[in-house]
Formats: sequence, C-alpha cells, structure tokens
Amino acid sequence: MVETYTLNPNLTKTAAVAEWLQQRIDWHIYLPNQRVPSVRKLAKLLNISSFTVVQAYEQLVATGVLIAKPSSGYYVNTQSKLVQPNDDKRKVFKHPVIDTRWLVQQVFSDIPHNRSPGVGTLPRDWVRNDKMEWAIRQVTQQADSFIYDYGNVQGYLPLRQQLVQHLHTLGMQTHADHVITTAGVSQAVTMVARLLTQAGDTVVVDGPGWYWLSSCLQQQGLNVVSVERDHQGPNIEQMQKLFAAHRPKLYLTNSVLHNPTSYNLHPARAHQVLNLIHEYDAYIFEDDLYAAFVPGGQVLRYASLDQFERVFYATGFSKSMASGWRVGMLVCPDNYIDDVLRIKTLSNSNTPEFGERVCHHLWTHGEYRRQIKKVQQHLYRAHERMRKALPKIRLIYPEHTQAGLFVWVDMGQDTSQLALDAYKEGWLVAPGQLFYPDVSASTHLRLNVSTTSDEFLRWLGDYLDKSCQY
Ligand SMILES: Cc1ncc(COP(=O)(O)O)c(C=O)c1O
Repeated sequence: MVETYTLNPNLTKTAAVAEWLQQRIDWHIYLPNQRVPSVRKLAKLLNISSFTVVQAYEQLVATGVLIAKPSSGYYVNTQSKLVQPNDDKRKVFKHPVIDTRWLVQQVFSDIPHNRSPGVGTLPRDWVRNDKMEWAIRQVTQQADSFIYDYGNVQGYLPLRQQLVQHLHTLGMQTHADHVITTAGVSQAVTMVARLLTQAGDTVVVDGPGWYWLSSCLQQQGLNVVSVERDHQGPNIEQMQKLFAAHRPKLYLTNSVLHNPTSYNLHPARAHQVLNLIHEYDAYIFEDDLYAAFVPGGQVLRYASLDQFERVFYATGFSKSMASGWRVGMLVCPDNYIDDVLRIKTLSNSNTPEFGERVCHHLWTHGEYRRQIKKVQQHLYRAHERMRKALPKIRLIYPEHTQAGLFVWVDMGQDTSQLALDAYKEGWLVAPGQLFYPDVSASTHLRLNVSTTSDEFLRWLGDYLDKSCQY
C-alpha cells in the first residue's frame, strides 16, 4: 500500500520528489494549467528541504512537465503528456492516495454507508420521500406539454417564484427574474467563477471548506487561498491581509451549517466581511445548500444583510431531497443576471425541467417540508449521540456545532495517516487536509453524524489509544 507523503526510498531525494509529483499529474490530481503546491508547502508536507523541492520542480520544468510563472508559482504544463484517469476501482484500492480525487471516487464507490463516516450524504432512508413517485407521476402526466421544448433558459418559473417567496420569509428580497436554475450548486459555482475571474486570478475560500470547491476553482486556473473559518465566520484580520495582498474578486463561502464544521455566521463578522467586500469591489458567492436543515430557518446569511448587491446566493435540493435531480438555484445581483444567463446558455443551453418540476411539486404540496422536519429530527438526535459518544473516546464535541450534517473533530494527530490506516480496515474517513486548498496537514477529521456508527467510534477509540502508546 502506498502512503501519500512517503517518497520512493530507492531514488535520490530530488528524483523521488519529481516522481511523486509526476504520479499525481498522471493520476489527474493536478490538472493542466493547475498550480502545484508551493515550494514551501510541499517541503513541509514531505518533510524535506525547500532546496530539494526547487531542484525537483526545476527538473520538471526542464522536461516540460511544469511551467514556472514568475511570482506566481509552478503550474502543470497544458502540453504535458496525459495519462487517462484510472477508473478501475481495484487499482484505486492498490494505490489509495488520500486527496480530493480519491475521496470523490470513494464517495461514488460501493463502500456501504455504515462503513463511511467520511461521506457527505445522508442515509437514503432519512431522505427518502414517500411522495416522490407520486410527484413524478404527476409531472409525467404533463410531460407532453413541455418535454419536447428547450423551455425557459432561466429555469422553471413556478420554482423560481417559490424560491423567491421562501427567501422573503428568510429576510431576503428578490424577484423571480433574478433567479436562474442550475444543475446543482456546483454549476452555480462554475458559472459565477467564470463570470468574475480569469485564470491566474486569486479567489478566497474558507479553510476548512468544502473540498470540491477548491479543486474545481484550481481546475479553472485560479489561485485559491483560504481564510481561517471559525464558529463566527472567516478570520477578519487574515481576510484583510489576503485582500490587501491579492485583491481577489470573489470570496466563496458556505455560511450556514458550514461543511465541514456545521458552524453558522455571526452578525458582527458578516458585517465586517461585507465592508471588506465593498472596500475591495469584490463579491461573495454564498452557498446555502444546507439551508433546509436549519430548524425554523432563521439564521443570518450574507444575502439577508446585503440583499443581493454584492452577493450571489445559491441553494438546492441535493442534500435535502435528492442529489440525482441536480436541481439548484442561483440568485444574482441585478447587474449580472444577463451575463450569467449568457454563460448558462452557452454552456448548457438549459437545465432539465423535469426535475425542477418534481422538486416544485413536492415543495408546493407541503411534502418537502414534512420530509425536512423528519431529517432535522434525525440530525438533532445524531448530534446528541455524538455529543455523548465523543468524550467516551476522549474526543471533544466542538462547542458551537449546529445540527448540520457534520462534526469537525480534533484527533490530536495528523489525520492523513489515520485515514490510510482506517482505509486498510475498510473505513472511509475524510481527513482534515482535504478541506484546505493547499492540502495542509490537519489534525481534524470530518465526521458525518448520520453515518458514524458505534462500531467506527470503537475502532477510532482503540486506534487513538494505540497511537498514544507509541
Ligand atoms: C457545501 C456544499 N455545497 C455544494 C455541494 C454540492 O451541491 P450540488 O449537489 O447542489 O451541486 C456540496 C456537496 O457536498 C456541499 O457540501
């Protein structure tokens, strides 16, 4: 079994670093045009000198694998030889590299939920809606009237109107013509990033933050930097420094029931962030995917303070109803709606209306609300369970955690090794390093409260006890 940050002992240090990076390029972990870790970061990660990393990088530049960009860093050469991604699961088992690509692969693999405290989804029986088939039948009966057309490029109007009405109850005022449906929050992210940035620009994300986001933005050629995120929001001093140094156009954040910490946003912090955003003429992409899980719904969002002047707000049904529908919604500031629509038209033409209609049907007939209440109760109980169970294995349940999908737990040791050891014993866990754009070492583990079984907690307790003895 290959360990992520172990270098090949049969090579010189420089050659081993070059091989390490080349493998990651071959496996499409670093994609053409994407920045590879900075010299300092990689030296720290591999526990070697910066000098060795520079030598290895320079070798890779000389052989056309990397390109050096002055005062920006090293990037994967778009011309470098591409090896097809390895989709063979058995091979992945032989070479587990704990990174975003690996986690994504495992999330879509057959590892059962009760062996997967690292997944980002809820158990099917928590989210299954008894009325789903009924709603599909209802929409099917109308299919002849819409299925043969492209439909409205902005998305199914009644769904957009329903969102607007719902947002009003949460203190956000907008209109249906400022809302665009998307294939999930993911598509909203890529559209807004494409709208506001160009390759080489810097964008700011939360650290820790949703791992897919950083990788997606890096793949678009952006320089992704993270600002520390705590239970009140981003660290404002750090953010000020980042803005002064990089002048980013965009800060992307998941403000409510944040992935991976399940923290919300504090009003004072939100106010400071918005001031900074105005000062630097920047924008916020507010990802509110977990909105439905907030009991009562009344927590602060950037969009409720800002009213869509500087905030792009996205939400969707992936976690709360069914990821397979790929239904998301994006609210845009007034002056950007046409540009975003243009991007949607030129990339997808449209999003499929069938799923939008089904989601709308369940929502407006009260079935969505009923189902969400059930999930909220499950989540509440799961957090109560974790609150009691973690101290029994000498771990701390973080004080400000809200009843979201995750709990972000400090293990007191680097969790990348823990994740590999867990994997050998058939557990899929999500180590903290995945949640930082520079993959910096972390002592945290993201635990999904709905899939973290007693059996896993026992395994974890034993593992931590054993590692304390060494
Ligand atoms: C914070 C966050 N935003 C967005 C997504 C993906 O959203 P969608 O499926 O709507 O694209 C995820 C998925 O895990 C997530 O954790």
